[in-house]
Amino acid sequence: MVSEKLIIKNGIVVTDRATFKADVEIKDGKIIAIGENLTGSDELIDATGKYILPGAIESHAHLAMPFMGTTSADDYYDGTKAAACGGVTTVFDFAIQNTGEHLVDTIKRRDELCAPDACIDYSFHVAITDIDSSRISQMEEAVKFGVPSFKMFMTYDFSIDDGTLYLALKKSIDYGALIALHAENKEIINLLASEFVAEGNTSPWYHYLSRPEFVEAEAVTRAIQIAKSVGAPLNIVHLSSAEGLEAVKNARNEGYPIFTETCPQYLAFTKEVYKRPDASKFVCSPPMKGQESLESLWQGVLNNHISTVATDHCPFTLEQKEMGKDNFRNMPNGCSGIEVLYPYMLSQANKGKISFNRVVELCASNPAKLYGCEDRKGNIAPGMDADIVIYDPNKSFEISPESMHSNTDNTIWDGMTLEGYPVMTISRGRVVYNDGQFIDARGHGEFVKCNPLFHKVPSF
Ligand code: URP
Ligand code: ZN
Ligand code: ZN
Repeated sequence: MVSEKLIIKNGIVVTDRATFKADVEIKDGKIIAIGENLTGSDELIDATGKYILPGAIESHAHLAMPFMGTTSADDYYDGTKAAACGGVTTVFDFAIQNTGEHLVDTIKRRDELCAPDACIDYSFHVAITDIDSSRISQMEEAVKFGVPSFKMFMTYDFSIDDGTLYLALKKSIDYGALIALHAENKEIINLLASEFVAEGNTSPWYHYLSRPEFVEAEAVTRAIQIAKSVGAPLNIVHLSSAEGLEAVKNARNEGYPIFTETCPQYLAFTKEVYKRPDASKFVCSPPMKGQESLESLWQGVLNNHISTVATDHCPFTLEQKEMGKDNFRNMPNGCSGIEVLYPYMLSQANKGKISFNRVVELCASNPAKLYGCEDRKGNIAPGMDADIVIYDPNKSFEISPESMHSNTDNTIWDGMTLEGYPVMTISRGRVVYNDGQFIDARGHGEFVKCNPLFHKVPSF
């Protein structure tokens, strides 16, 4: 359904700052007016009794990612389709640099794959795997190309060392770039994992035991020290532990521009999942931690120490997970989540655990600000892209692999019933999901070029 001009009537608009009854008028893919009793359009959508929210920004997804001897199961079509059905209107994917590849070529290579298939708007973080001082200025070229956010991995076989991290952080200040980090101590993980396997302890529980709380906390603390030494902003992604959060909190309280993201799975599950018969579905890095971490992360979400929530969507089929059935080290790391991000967080608001405005902030307006697209994305206001979700607080929805749209046969959220669910997703004025149905939009999504980032202080 594509209308030139459309009015959403009688809903309750929820932004990151306010909640109020209003109509929203859309023309040529933009929001043009918000007010009472708006009239005169090609088409009306009745949102009586429903919330009108900005579309979510899934700021952490791995679509069609070659990883651990296989490729994540959602390509750009399946992943953005699933996203749209869960109320996501912009996805940030990771473009992983090949050895020796220019960072701008990395972006262009992935954009060529993504553009024909994307059903919603998209952008990238570039994952730097191979850089040195003679090529570091490629980061600035990537920023000028519209990708100012970079991820570096402190673990996996494509990790960077601390010297490279120092170099990138130092340069990021001049370039207007932001470095995101996968923070876990690689050497300790490798040592513990080898010991467990040598002793015949190969189940998913030992995946957790080889990456326990302190393995993340040590890496987070080290990285923050390095960022502080050069005065650079730093973004710790998929934070999973209370001790890691403590390090982030301390640095923020000292006034350093340290940001962090957590994921719904760390707010909903603990390490106990690795004892379940279906534990393989939950094997991701960092793994889920103990109850204390879950509770601290909720506190961080509620009291502003955590800036964004995203899912780290990296789905694998059960057959792919079988690669690690005899040895957790061979199991592809990652879980499915993109379609559940907004529904899960909004269901928590519907229960009263968090405000709807704070969910909008964590899942839409803060990622837009952090990654440089807040001029177009992440809120409801005249002039913004018409990326909108209509949410029915009374709709009950049971999650199962069949009710999700990912190209995978499992979900860690299987069997969970959510009270409240998105009933419509509008991407730049085009309805892409309506009343349980995906409305095909292959190729509709556009590459969102982001603005350089100069995060001086943690204002959010
Ligand atoms: O297990 C995970 N998180 N897989 C995706 C890659 C990453 O580390 O983000
Ligand atoms: Zn990671
Ligand atoms: Zn990730």
